[in-house]
Amino acid sequence: MDFDTPINRIGTHCVKWDMMEKLYGVPAEGGLAMWVADMEFRPPAIVQQAVERMAAHGVYGYFGDDRAYLEAIRWWMKNRHGWDVAAGDIFTTHGLVNGTGLCLEAFTAPGDGVVLTTPVYHAFARTIKAAGREVRECPLSLIDGRYEMDFAAWDGLMTGRERMFILCSPHNPGGRVWTAEELRGVADFCKRHDLILVSDEIHHDLVFPGQRHLPMPLAAPEIMDRLVMMTATTKTFNIAGSHTGNVIIADPALRAKFAAKIMALGISGNSFGMHMATAAYSPDGAEWVDALMAYLEGNRQVFDAGMAGIPGLRSMLLEATYLAWLDFSGTGMAPAEFIGRVEKEARIATNHGDAFGTGGETFLRFNIAAPRAMVVEAVERMQAAFRDLQ
Ligand SMILES: Cc1ncc(COP(=O)(O)O)c(C=O)c1O
Repeated sequence: MDFDTPINRIGTHCVKWDMMEKLYGVPAEGGLAMWVADMEFRPPAIVQQAVERMAAHGVYGYFGDDRAYLEAIRWWMKNRHGWDVAAGDIFTTHGLVNGTGLCLEAFTAPGDGVVLTTPVYHAFARTIKAAGREVRECPLSLIDGRYEMDFAAWDGLMTGRERMFILCSPHNPGGRVWTAEELRGVADFCKRHDLILVSDEIHHDLVFPGQRHLPMPLAAPEIMDRLVMMTATTKTFNIAGSHTGNVIIADPALRAKFAAKIMALGISGNSFGMHMATAAYSPDGAEWVDALMAYLEGNRQVFDAGMAGIPGLRSMLLEATYLAWLDFSGTGMAPAEFIGRVEKEARIATNHGDAFGTGGETFLRFNIAAPRAMVVEAVERMQAAFRDLQ
């Protein structure tokens, strides 16, 4: 397991490096790509071998016989998360943005409201708006440098037109691992306002040592009749290009609606993604994730210590995810000023905080899942770009 050796991705048609000049004006040569949430690492050898076996065979037909695939998912959820999943509850989608879109189509109608706890993963709002539904922002409270939920305030924001709540657990950005009490609070909120709860747990394996993620079905088993779970191998094992995710639904009525949508849209598994996921959800995969998190812990420390040295900047302490969330509000600078310094002086491409909704405006999101040397380089560039503050 080598996380240190840099891998040149320029010219491979990857969005993170090959689109960054077009989108940010930061040239890939000489720039640092720290936006999109994929990692600068190869997946575990066992995943690579699965792809090599497919390539060596050379016939790329339709996938069938999903017993090993479903068993691998069940094994992973039981062993890593203590969660029993029934094989018959598992749907395979083309990733979880696709899963989100399918949930919107299956469980809401045009004009319905969908609750998001902002700032939150930007594709949720994009998908909701594109589907002709309305985003209902419920802002997270920033208390002592970490995000918390304020159910009493959120009660007052409901209009009666809301049908769905999309939870990001663990949270992107900000890296919160929600507590059992917070998750039960979400479940109660959904009951109170009669909402379907879609729990996107794509980051559930990327939890730092000392933290424990709790799957929603374990936190609030009483809401299984309104719960839709979303999980994937893609973020955990850095195989997002395989576009494969799982939507897991225990309630028969919700499952039937979702199945009808999958059928209507002709969605079936991508054979590369299915083979890669089957390989990844294994003891070898588990060992790799443990090593990955130990490495990312080092990156997190380097990044946070470096940012702490720049007056006015504050990096939120991540409990999960490799997405550092850096607050520039203490600098008193307008977004154009700090973004300009990061992109033009430091030559780093990051995700702009305003895309994540209310509360994100003074932040930039830095992806720190890269060889340590790149994180060190980013810190040095940031210190140089904000030298006048030190
Ligand atoms: C919370 C969350 N959901 C979904 C996705 C993307 O999922 P997919 O690549 O499976 O569409 C991301 C990517 O960063 C994410 O952070």
